[in-house]
Amino acid sequence: MNLTFYGHAAFQVVIKGKKILFDPFITGNPLAEGKVDPNTLEADYIFLSHGHGDHIGDAVSIAKRTGATVVAVYEIFVWLQQQGIQNAHPMNTGGKWTFDFGTVKAVVAQHSSSFPDGSYAGNPVGFVFKTDEGNFYYSGDTAVTLDMQLIPDWVTPDFAVLPIGDNLTMGPEDAVAVARMVKTKTVVGVHYDTFGFIKLDKESARSTFTKAGIDLKLPAVGETIKL
Ligand code: NI
Ligand code: MN
Repeated sequence: MNLTFYGHAAFQVVIKGKKILFDPFITGNPLAEGKVDPNTLEADYIFLSHGHGDHIGDAVSIAKRTGATVVAVYEIFVWLQQQGIQNAHPMNTGGKWTFDFGTVKAVVAQHSSSFPDGSYAGNPVGFVFKTDEGNFYYSGDTAVTLDMQLIPDWVTPDFAVLPIGDNLTMGPEDAVAVARMVKTKTVVGVHYDTFGFIKLDKESARSTFTKAGIDLKLPAVGETIKL
């Protein structure tokens, strides 16, 4: 499976030819400026983990331009409709749905969620993907939580996309604990360096993962990696 990183927690995977975009925050990310153009990103689906501005980002404009189906919790689904998005799909924690590329389950994330104007955006979630081309887990912004132990009861992810920037989410040590709980050996680290609060010591992070026997991928902004 190919994964392209667009900075912060924004990335795309392609499954069965479908372009699936996650948390597309590009405009306003200084690290993505000049490297990613939100006006040319393609998407068949956009998955939103929660309502914070650094995740909702450019989702509305990309969805309007591409006609992508936007998948998010019910409260964000309602908000998307108010923004004029016709193709939205509501999910909520614990539920799963089979799309044309595979089945997705929404899972617990320990974080907060509000829209950029401060209004209520429901609970944050992560997503577990089970597909013929591979399985993976995107946790969204979260702390480590024991609920994650339940994920491999449904599917064992080939890789997990996890925040590692600390302070606003878990950091590298806890991300290792998550990788162990979900029984994956490969982690794509996201949600670091974008703001002052989440500067990552990459060497230290790499050594934390290496000591645990887990492969940490830190793709550059705009880079595509094969997983
Ligand atoms: Ni957040
Ligand atoms: Mn965030």
